Amino acid sequence: MTKYVIKGGRPLQGEITVSGAKNAAVAIIPAALMIDGVCRIENIPQISDVTMLLKILEQMGAKIRTVNKHTVDIDCTGVVTHEATFDTMRRIRASYYLIGALLGRFGKASVAMPGGCNFGGARPIDQHIKGFTAMGAAMDVRNGIVFAETPGRVQGASIYFDINSVGATINIMLAATLAEGRTVIENAAREPHVVDLANFLNSMGADIRGAGTDVIKIKGVKKLTGGFYSIIPDQIEAGTYMAAVAGTGGEVLIKNVIPKHLDCISGKLREMGVEVEDMADAVVVRRRGPLLKTTIKTLPYPGFPTDMQPQISTVLCLADGTSVVTDSVFESRFKYVDELAKMGAQIQVSGRTAIIEGIDRLTGAPVKAGDLRAGAALVIAGLCAGGTTEIEGVNYLERGYEDLVLKLRALGADITEVFVPDDPIVAEREAV
Ligand code: EPZ
Repeated sequence: MTKYVIKGGRPLQGEITVSGAKNAAVAIIPAALMIDGVCRIENIPQISDVTMLLKILEQMGAKIRTVNKHTVDIDCTGVVTHEATFDTMRRIRASYYLIGALLGRFGKASVAMPGGCNFGGARPIDQHIKGFTAMGAAMDVRNGIVFAETPGRVQGASIYFDINSVGATINIMLAATLAEGRTVIENAAREPHVVDLANFLNSMGADIRGAGTDVIKIKGVKKLTGGFYSIIPDQIEAGTYMAAVAGTGGEVLIKNVIPKHLDCISGKLREMGVEVEDMADAVVVRRRGPLLKTTIKTLPYPGFPTDMQPQISTVLCLADGTSVVTDSVFESRFKYVDELAKMGAQIQVSGRTAIIEGIDRLTGAPVKAGDLRAGAALVIAGLCAGGTTEIEGVNYLERGYEDLVLKLRALGADITEVFVPDDPIVAEREAV
């Protein structure tokens, strides 16, 4: 096990390149299961969620060839099983996309219930089940496994989601791609990674229209051929570095972004007194003056992303005045606040809302990440704080941030990853 050790209080200066989008990659890799041939995926991020999903596909009989650090060839023609019940499935949330992909290809699926970040509150899949049921699948959940089966091919259907769900939109899109007939998804999620999956599938022979709007129409096709596709840059990784320099001060060029995807983040940072300059495929973020308070409410895209809520709340700890942050997407995504309090943060949480009193300085402390974006928030806090911060839970960060230490060191941060020997007391207790 390792931890990050950060000596904070230094402004970030320099440039970094954003990697491929995690939440696009974890949808596109399962989609490869439906392709009759080899697909080459470029700009794939080197993160543990991707490694885990590629391993799951290999366990199912897929052939995976690493072309280079960010390019893989996936050939699922040899996959004959509709079952994915390995333990590895429980370690990531996106494993449930295998239900849609296997239903589309085989008309049936047995898939272990997902794991992934448990930042508090339920993460149900009732909308996924509603969609698959509408498409003719008999659904059941037993012993932590989701069973889905149709008499033949899955059928196209009209589905209206009760709530805006990225996962359900993606899962139904996957199954509908090879369904018999047409599917219409209403109240669909509009996130960039939903659009990226649709573009990937269409490049392989699918017929999907309207991705990026709240109505997506899919005409089922008989088969998908191979091809190649490059994943979009990660909106949340870019936003995380934007928040980091907003907190520490300094100036950073963030390359390989789609500025349009960052509008919701850039707009809020500008309200906070941060300068954000859009370029063709990059943004420059600089902060010299004081941070200003603001009010933030997370919303589905194109609103302010919930995946940026912990990071921006951390920066607001250093703003002049009182800020209010409401997460309207997840019912309780503020577990990280207890860790920030160890660093002197003044945050009061009530339900979906955090009231943040700005202070002059955070102070370094030993803290623990409980999920991916909470970990990102604690790294930002450590970069801003006076003194040394030690962060446990590095495994969460590695799920979604490629080369985090390398990229931050390139910006002048004093951050190192150090090995943590097993705690002798715990080891002794386990030995008994
Ligand atoms: C995806 O999770 C992302 N994960 C999350 O990113 C992100 O926070 C979330 O979308 C919202 O943008 C991946 O893409 C792998 P939802 P997902 O279904 O699909 C409720 C990260 O940090 N809901 O859009 O699970 C749900 O409880 C991760 O990268 C139901 O009630 O999110 C939540 O309140 C964390 N029933 C809301 O909808 C359902 O069937 C939005 O969830 C499905 C969802």
